[in-house]
Amino acid sequence: MRLTLINTSPKGKNGNTEIVSQRFIDGFLTSEENIARILHLTDMCAETINETVKLSDYIIIAFPLYVFNLPAATINVLRLLDLVKADKKMKIGFICQFGFLEACHARAIEHLLHRYCDDIGAENIGVIIRGGCEGIKRKYDSKKPIPVLENFYEMGRYLTENKKFSTEILDWFSKPERIGNGFVKRLRARLFIFKANRFMWGALLKKNNALEKHWDQPLLRNLTDKQQTI
Ligand SMILES: Cc1cc2nc3c(=O)[nH]c(=O)nc-3n(C[C@H](O)[C@H](O)[C@H](O)COP(=O)(O)O)c2cc1C
Repeated sequence: MRLTLINTSPKGKNGNTEIVSQRFIDGFLTSEENIARILHLTDMCAETINETVKLSDYIIIAFPLYVFNLPAATINVLRLLDLVKADKKMKIGFICQFGFLEACHARAIEHLLHRYCDDIGAENIGVIIRGGCEGIKRKYDSKKPIPVLENFYEMGRYLTENKKFSTEILDWFSKPERIGNGFVKRLRARLFIFKANRFMWGALLKKNNALEKHWDQPLLRNLTDKQQTI
C-alpha cells in the first residue's frame, strides 16, 4: 500500500504534528510491502496534489486544531484536493491533534470532514482525534518519554492490517471524551493552564517580545465608540 501523509501544520517540520505523523508512519511501515512519504505545505500546489492522488492508495491529512478549527492552510489543501479529477475513489483519513485533553473539542470538525468526503465522493477511512498533544516537540527535543507516540504508532500499524479505522479503535484512541466535572480533575486542569500560561506560553510570548500584546484582538472590526455602545 502506498500512503501519502500531508502535514498541514503551519509549523511544518518544527511542530507537534510532524512528530506524531512520523510515528504514525513508522507503524504503517511495519509491513514491508508498504511505502509512505510525508509532504508539507511548502510542497503544496495543484500539480503535487494531482500526482499524490494518482500515486497513493491512502491520503492522510494531519493538522493541529487552531481555535477549535482547521488551520487556514489545511482548508487550502482540502480545496486543492476537491479540484482533482480522480479516476478512482480517493481514500482519505485525517489526524487531528491538539492541546486540550478532551476529544469533544474536535467533534464538530470530525462531522465537517465526514461531510467533506461525502461531498467530493471520497471514502473517509477515519478521523483520528487526539488531545493532550501540547508540548510534544519540546519533550521530544529534550528526549523525554512521550507515551502517546506509541499510540500513534499503533494506529499506523492498525491501518496496514485493517485498511480503515473502526469506530471502536478511534474511540479508544481519542479518550477522554470529556474530563468531567469532578473537583480534582477540574483543579488539575486549572493548575495546568496556570503553569502553562506562566512558564510555557508566557515564556514564548516573552521571547518574541509580545507579552504586552497578549490581549490584542487584531481581527476585531474597528468599531467607533458610538457603535460599541449600541
Ligand atoms: C493559534 C493557535 C490556536 C490553538 N487553538 C487550540 C484550540 O482551539 N484547542 C486546542 O486544544 N489547542 C489549540 N492550540 C494548541 C495546538 O493545537 C497544539 O499545540 C498542537 O499540538 C500544535 O501543533 P503544531 O505544533 O503542529 O502546530 C492552538 C495553538 C495555536 C498556535
